[in-house]
Amino acid sequence: MGWLVPAVTVGGLLPVAVLIWDAYTGALGANPIQRATLQTGLLTLALLVASLACTPLRLLTGWTWPARIRKALGLLAFGYAALHFLIYLFDHGFSLGLMLEDVLERPFVTVGFTALLLLVPLALTSGRNSVKRLGFQRWTRLHQLVYLAVALGALHYYWGVKQDHTPPLIYAGVIAALFAVRFLKRRPTRKKASPT
Ligand code: HEM
Repeated sequence: MGWLVPAVTVGGLLPVAVLIWDAYTGALGANPIQRATLQTGLLTLALLVASLACTPLRLLTGWTWPARIRKALGLLAFGYAALHFLIYLFDHGFSLGLMLEDVLERPFVTVGFTALLLLVPLALTSGRNSVKRLGFQRWTRLHQLVYLAVALGALHYYWGVKQDHTPPLIYAGVIAALFAVRFLKRRPTRKKASPT
């Protein structure tokens, strides 16, 4: 299955090519910046959830391949989050002052920005060397931040949508279910000590 990670990576990058093509051909509609922001935001969240689903899927099915693509999905999610943020910065004339003002004033943006900040150390420590350097336990604890990041991402989405709140609520339900599977499967079941 050496093809799996390259296939996931190429498949995960395809939307960037489509986005660039759509921008070039004017297919992004009357408000291309807004459309690109929405698309990259949705891709970030979907890829984060996909990377989060890998461990529960492995625990439930015993398959090993989900563990192999988890890192690629996480890095793709981070890439889309960075692109989402870059488009946002472009829309604000790359003014860090305007950006900070917005982050401090609009809770919707505060939450998205916090989610992005949480993803930075995870992306920086995604390599095998980091596991060795930090030690497995510390590395695992650090990478549990992904749950907080994805929850904040879903909240950001919920606050961001103007009309139908069903899609962000579905995301929130899926995230809660993934967290529950992981939590329940990981906890050792305590057996009552037998009197013998
Ligand atoms: C992990 C990080 C992030 C995730 C998962 C995420 C996800 C999303 C999603 C799903 C949407 C679509 C909402 C809708 O349909 O209306 C969205 C919109 C938006 N995001 Fe993010 N986002 C993240 C980070 C950020 C950051 C860092 C910023 C800026 C500082 C930001 C600014 C925006 C803005 C302004 C919109 C609304 C676009 C509009 O309605 O015109 N996001 N984001």
